[in-house]
Order: sequence, then C-alpha cells, then structure tokens
Amino acid sequence: MRIFSGIQPTGRKHLGNYLGAIRNYVAMQDEGEAIYCVVDLHAITVDFDPAELRERVYNTTAILVAAGLDPAQCILFRQSDVPEHTELCWLLTSVTAYGELSRMTQFKEKSEQQKSFVSAGLFMYPVLQAADILAYQTDEVPIGEDQKQHLELARNVADRFNTRYGETFIVPRHRIPRVAARVRDLQSPLKQMSTTASTEQGKVHILDDPDVIRRKFQAAVTDARRDVVRSPDKPGISNLIELMAAARGISPDDVEREYAGAPGYADFKRDVGDAVVKLLAPVRDRYGPLRDDERALEAILIKGADKARAIAADTITRARTRTGFGRPQ
Ligand code: TYM
Repeated sequence: MRIFSGIQPTGRKHLGNYLGAIRNYVAMQDEGEAIYCVVDLHAITVDFDPAELRERVYNTTAILVAAGLDPAQCILFRQSDVPEHTELCWLLTSVTAYGELSRMTQFKEKSEQQKSFVSAGLFMYPVLQAADILAYQTDEVPIGEDQKQHLELARNVADRFNTRYGETFIVPRHRIPRVAARVRDLQSPLKQMSTTASTEQGKVHILDDPDVIRRKFQAAVTDARRDVVRSPDKPGISNLIELMAAARGISPDDVEREYAGAPGYADFKRDVGDAVVKLLAPVRDRYGPLRDDERALEAILIKGADKARAIAADTITRARTRTGFGRPQ
C-alpha cells in the first residue's frame, strides 16, 4: 500500500495537526510505503515572507522527525524540490471545473481572511494538492476532517482524467481518525483549532511550554452545566472529552464513565491539560537538537526528494503521453 500526505510549513504546528494528522503519519509508516511532503509551494498562496519560508520548512521537518517519522523508513521531502508536482498540477487543470474550485470551503474562508489581495494560487490550491497525491499513485491519504473536501476533489479529478485520457491514476482513499478528527479551538469551540484563525489562547502548539499548555486548558471555554458528557449543545466539553480520549488512547465513552459524578469541570480540565502535556513532551524534548542541525535536516529532505522524484517522474511521463505532450514514448 502507498501512503501520501502533505503538511504546510506555515505558522507553528498545533494539537489539531498532531492528533488529526501527524500522529497517523507516524503510525502508518509500518503499514506500507509512506511518503510525506512539506508543501512549501502551497504556503505561497497567502501572504508569506521568503526568508521565513525556508526556516519554517526546517521547523516543520524537525517536528515531523521529533514526532517519530523515520527518514530511513519513510520518504520525507520538500515539495519545491520535485517540480513534477507543478507540471502535473497544470495537466490536471484540464479536468478540474472552475465551479468545483469555487465551492471549496477552505478557499472561501481563506479568501475572506486575506484583506487586500486574493491570489490565483489560493484558488488553484486544491489542484496542486490533487497533483501531490496523484503523482505517487497513492492508495491512502491520512488527513484531518477539514481536508475531506479537497480529497473528494482529488478523487473526482483522478476519475475524470482516467475516463477522458485513459487509466493513469489510482483513485485515493482518505484516512481520518475516529477521535479528534476535528480538534476545536479552546476559546471558540464551534470553530476548529487553526493556525491562522485561532487566537493564541484558543490553540495549543506542539512546542508550547507545559505550564502554558496547562493554563490554556484551565481557561478553556466550557458551559454552565457540570456533567462531563458529549452533547451538541456542549461543544467545549465535547472537545475536551475527545482530546482526553485521543491523548490517553481510550474511547470518549471511557472518559465519560471515568468522570461520571465529578463535582464540576475544574478537575477534568486539569487532567486533560496533564494528559496533553504528557502526550507532547517527548516531541518537544526531541525537537531542539533536531532543529539545531540544519545540515542534517537538509540532508533528509534532499535524499527524500531524490526518492520521491523517481516515483513521480514515472507518473508524469504517463500523464504527458496520455495528454499528447512531448516526444512520443
Ligand atoms: P495543514 O498543514 O493545514 O494541516 C496538516 C494536517 O493537519 C490537519 N488538521 C487538523 N486535524 C484535526 N483538527 C484540526 N483542528 C486540524 N487542523 C489541521 C489537516 O487536516 C491536515 O491533514 N491542504 C493540506 C496540505 C496538503 C496536503 C496535500 C494534505 C497539501 N497537499 C496532499 C494531504 C495530501 C493542509 O492544509 O495541511
């Protein structure tokens, strides 16, 4: 089985990224041939600073390795080192409808956040994402719930290309975790925890200091009632129950049973904070030394890109031939 996923080098990675995606990247290394990409080309679809971009690619790479990605076991690379992605993106535009892209909720949200300039790249973002996935003949894509719509688009695009030009791509499936697929903002639990949209208090960074994490959980918004049970009218406490379950590797039902009859939320919030601190501590401890050695990070990315390119080049040659480009093969 071939596994592929991508992560943006923007901002600081948070608990939603960790539970919704990164943790599964690590687990899936044992399930098949796993390929992970730091998608720097996607990062330029919103405001960015070129000098910072390179730094952020290293930050994200170090987080992934600290979380448990083993460059000897998986392929880890930087998107811009493999130009096949952008070429395939262009070929795929011929089977992507303008209307489909207009319906993408991430485009609608992010274009509203951009004050003065909405780039054409932001509109094309999901086509490049489809190219990332399809270039590797991917079977499964580990993602959080928010990326489901983009994955659906990639499936439609693959199907349409295969129908119009002949069998070329595997149509990929998504792998979304059962618990913590959409981690919520601790201050506004109706929204998801997000790099750009959440406040500092609403999101927990993977590298946050343990005391900062504990304080953020203590200050998490809950509700006037006192029972630790999930319910649509209790988005704050429901989120905390899911986080506790995900952090400790138990089910949300188990959490509810454990806290049945608890006198209030205070102890529960403290325990969730402690569980999350415990979960993230090993990643935080490993991060520093890894991040300090940029040459080693660069070596990982370059080696990964060589391996990735060999796979992607094969697919692109096929796609070019099918669409009538280049010298006949
Ligand atoms: P990015 O970098 O925004 O997010 C990385 C992963 O984290 C997941 N995620 C969440 N999961 C649960 N709760 C949350 N609050 C939360 N916030 C983020 C995302 O679902 C994602 O899996 N478009 C992608 C990057 C990408 C990609 C790809 C992904 C580019 N090409 C190809 C898969 C395959 C993104 O925005 O990632």
